[in-house]
Amino acid sequence: MTKTALQATPTVASTSADSLSSDVICIASWNADLVSRVARPIARGETLMAHSFEIQPGGKGSNAAVAASRQGAKVGVIARIGDDDFGRMALALWATEGIATQHVAVAANERSGVAQILVFDDGDNSIAVATGAGSALGEANVDVACEAIRAARVVMASNEVPQSATLAAFKIARAANVKTILNPAPAVALPDGLIALCDVLTPNELEVRVLAGMSAEALIEDAAQALLDKGAGAVIVTLGSQGCALWQKGQLAQTLAGWAMQVVDTIGAGDTFTGALAAALARGELLAEAATSANAAAALSVTGRGAIAAMPTLAQSQNLENHH
Ligand code: RIB
Repeated sequence: MTKTALQATPTVASTSADSLSSDVICIASWNADLVSRVARPIARGETLMAHSFEIQPGGKGSNAAVAASRQGAKVGVIARIGDDDFGRMALALWATEGIATQHVAVAANERSGVAQILVFDDGDNSIAVATGAGSALGEANVDVACEAIRAARVVMASNEVPQSATLAAFKIARAANVKTILNPAPAVALPDGLIALCDVLTPNELEVRVLAGMSAEALIEDAAQALLDKGAGAVIVTLGSQGCALWQKGQLAQTLAGWAMQVVDTIGAGDTFTGALAAALARGELLAEAATSANAAAALSVTGRGAIAAMPTLAQSQNLENHH
């Protein structure tokens, strides 16, 4: 074998969680979040001094996997990372969080994903993602993990991983009667074939309109209904502190109230919602109940800095549900 071929062969990572089969499998993106805190959005061509800078764990998939694990699910990730310091940061995180990594490919001489994040004084943010090694996650990575997918209760993904990987995983899941959840962030149009493989979609108000091909003025109920018409099993639109709205085929829409919290930043709130929803469905909750559990977890997640610092355990989010 030539040196180039050797370098191109990803190695596989493992943790002590690997011997257990997973309740929740995440087709996961991983990013090191490079977070600068600035007073307000920066104008084109402007330089603004930041209050602070931190490197934190991120990536919509990894964030959702961590959320699901903290909510008590046994979680495994299917991912592709670089053999760099940020890739080692991912492996250390997943080991600490008890997440199985036998289906993580570590690609030699490739960079791991990074996200450059600006957090504004009001807690809102803007994010630029360079997916790095994750951009080559594909059908082959999913196929070698097909037994883990078939043995799971829920498979989840986001739009930060290539659609080919999500499609391959959701086809295996659908054939094995395993629930599928797609967090369609960042917002891009999806092929009808993928929408029809989603048991649950978890867009925010902006994303649901993009997915449905509608304008920013369209009613979210019309957008959600259009996605149900394309074959999605359910659409849950996240509404921040207002909670979420749930549409299911043949049922009346439901609004599930959220919690207004003291916001430090909202990085990863949608990922926490998706991960907590997956964990709740994996433990057998019905969709409306699971969405309320996810609301509580997402509410708590905004009370700390970065994507995962304030992601709650199940006991913490149940405490919020029961006492507030
Ligand atoms: O949803 C928040 C995440 O988006 C961040 O952690 C960042 O990595 C980007 O992927």
